[in-house]
Amino acid sequence: MPEYKQHVLVCDVVRDDEKHCGDKGGGDVKKKFAEVLAANDLRNDVYLSSVGCTSQHGLCQMDQASVIIYGVNNQGTWYVADVDDVETLVNEHIKNGIIVSSLLNEKMKVKI
Ligand code: FES
Repeated sequence: MPEYKQHVLVCDVVRDDEKHCGDKGGGDVKKKFAEVLAANDLRNDVYLSSVGCTSQHGLCQMDQASVIIYGVNNQGTWYVADVDDVETLVNEHIKNGIIVSSLLNEKMKVKI
């Protein structure tokens, strides 16, 4: 089993009220992460999974989903992202450790 260095959790929860991430962009965002991680030969370094509802879907517009990236030092960064944001998250955050400020979930931002 690979020793993963980072973990990407994409919310793709579907509910009858059609207001949850999977009713918006969750499934497509997760699929795009799989494609971009594979294209960058990162599937053995980055574990990709779904995550249950963390009550962030109210922040997500249509086509968006709640995304959490855990990485170095067990730091978690919360984003709201759509399919078009995935390459940026992989290139900036996952490959270079740069937080993508424009996509941060402001509600979950840690205040120091
Ligand atoms: S369904 Fe994604 S945060 Fe609630």
